[in-house]
Amino acid sequence: MNISAMQQARVAAPAAATTIKMHTPEPSFQEREFAGTVGTVTVDNPKIVSRNVNVYYGDKHAIKNVSLDVGANEIVAMIGPSGCGKSTFLRCFNRMNDTIDSCRVTGEIRLDGEDIHNQKLDVVQLRARVGMVFQKPNPFPKSIYENVAYGPRIHGMTKNRAELDELVQLSLEKAGLWEEVKDRMDQPGTGLSGGQQQRLCIARAIAVSPEVILMDEPCSALDPIATAKIEELMDELRANYTICIVTHSMQQAARVSQRTAYFHMGDLVEVGETSDIFTNPRHKLTEDYITGRFG
Ligand SMILES: Nc1ncnc2c1ncn2[C@@H]1O[C@H](COP(=O)(O)OP(=O)(O)OP(=O)(O)O)[C@@H](O)[C@H]1O
Ligand SMILES: [Mg+2]
Repeated sequence: MNISAMQQARVAAPAAATTIKMHTPEPSFQEREFAGTVGTVTVDNPKIVSRNVNVYYGDKHAIKNVSLDVGANEIVAMIGPSGCGKSTFLRCFNRMNDTIDSCRVTGEIRLDGEDIHNQKLDVVQLRARVGMVFQKPNPFPKSIYENVAYGPRIHGMTKNRAELDELVQLSLEKAGLWEEVKDRMDQPGTGLSGGQQQRLCIARAIAVSPEVILMDEPCSALDPIATAKIEELMDELRANYTICIVTHSMQQAARVSQRTAYFHMGDLVEVGETSDIFTNPRHKLTEDYITGRFG
């Protein structure tokens, strides 16, 4: 892309959801080694603040001193080569790494200012506030209705069946699945197509009114039509939720996110407005990855 095309792309880029506040030192553009995150890790209106996060699996240092804010009502995309630590970092935000025996997390993570590692914090509540959608759709072996009703039921969110029915319908509507399943609510969730199953999982995540939704390659098993539906849905969901998405598709990151974070071997190499990352990367490692030189 020549300079004027790059400038045009930048002018045409949508404004970031949040304003950039603090600049961190950057290495020269040509530098290939990691020498500290390039770009602005903070935002004005953060939903999640993470500082100096390290993750170890036994001796393996999988996330190295990463600091990153996620703004309210923002979609942040996390990209990088396989094994660079995207899923590991994402799982820090709802303490899903606690479920892995060898895994140890250090550093500070705050949700609305509250330390999520606080001993008094109820992890079940945290995971209701910070929901997760996985790469492979994983409906429970229950009916479509029960898949969505399960969370609200265990969290005692509704008073009676009518209220629960309403919440199930609303969640399926928000996930763009209601019209396709309203006449087969008693059939198993596992009987839906892959794309429908993924939207069912999104409905299940939404049903407990989360504040943040973590998505780990949510479209990697889906065809382009199902992918487009999920991407459209993410854009709608952003009005009410904060979303972090891990994706191997740079087109997807460019389409759905306002900010992009590029990871490489456990380091957060660069973060910035998505339009800048894809048209004008500042670090050589980022440039190599987005131009397909490795990864
Ligand atoms: N449960 C685990 N036990 C031991 N090591 C792990 C575990 N999970 C991940 N790792 C290691 O931590 C590093 C980061 O893995 P992670 O799954 O976060 O990468 P990723 O960026 O999500 O990769 P991919 O794009 O392939 O999903 C890798 O070296 C991986 O082998
Ligand atoms: Mg992963």
